Amino acid sequence: YGKPTKVKLVLLGESAVGKSSLVLRFVHKQYNENRDATIGAAFLSQKCQLEDRVIKFEIWDTAGQERFHSLAPMYYRNAQSAIVVYDITQYASYERAKQWVKELLKQAADSIVIALVGNKLDLEENRQVPSEEATTYALSNQLIFHETSAKDAIHVDELFKSIGKYYSRV
Ligand code: GTP
Ligand code: MG
Repeated sequence: YGKPTKVKLVLLGESAVGKSSLVLRFVHKQYNENRDATIGAAFLSQKCQLEDRVIKFEIWDTAGQERFHSLAPMYYRNAQSAIVVYDITQYASYERAKQWVKELLKQAADSIVIALVGNKLDLEENRQVPSEEATTYALSNQLIFHETSAKDAIHVDELFKSIGKYYSRV
C-alpha cells in the first residue's frame, strides 16, 4: 500500500498514570513494574497496520511531573493527535486529564484528534473514576475514549488503531 502515513502524537497526563507504560506496551510489547518518571520527554515511533494502510506514529511521551508542565506546548503544538491519560484509581488524575483536554482544545491545532484514556483497568477493585462519567465527558467533547491496562495489555493496540483510523492515506 505504499508509504505509511505519519502521525505525530503526544501523550499528556499526570505523573505515574502510565503514559510511558502504554508506549512501552505499544512499541515493545513489554511491561515494567518499576518505571522511572520521565524527565522532559521521550521520543519513540511505531507502525500500526490498519485494514487498508499503515500508520507510523511518531510519539512524544511527555513528563507528567508539574515542573515539566511549561514544556508541554512544545510537544503538542505540532501534534496531529494527543492521548490524555488518567489512572482509573486516582480521581485527581482524571480532573487533571480534563484540564489537559481544555488546554489542548484552546491551544493545539483545530484538527487535533484527542483520545481520553483511563489506564490501570487491571485495578478495577480500586476504581475511583466511574466509566459512565468519563464516557459522558468524552462524548460531549468529541474525544475518543478507552479504558486500558498497560500491565495486562488490554485495549492498548485498539487505542492506537482507533486513532489511526482518523488519518487517511496521503
Ligand atoms: P511520568 O513519566 O512521571 O509522567 O509517569 P508515567 O505516566 O509515564 O507513568 P509510568 O508509565 O512511569 O508508570 C507509573 C507506575 O504505574 C509504574 O510503577 C507502572 O508500573 C505503573 N503502571 C503503569 N501502567 C499500569 C497499569 O496498566 N496497571 C498497573 N497496575 N500499573 C501500571
Ligand atoms: Mg513517563
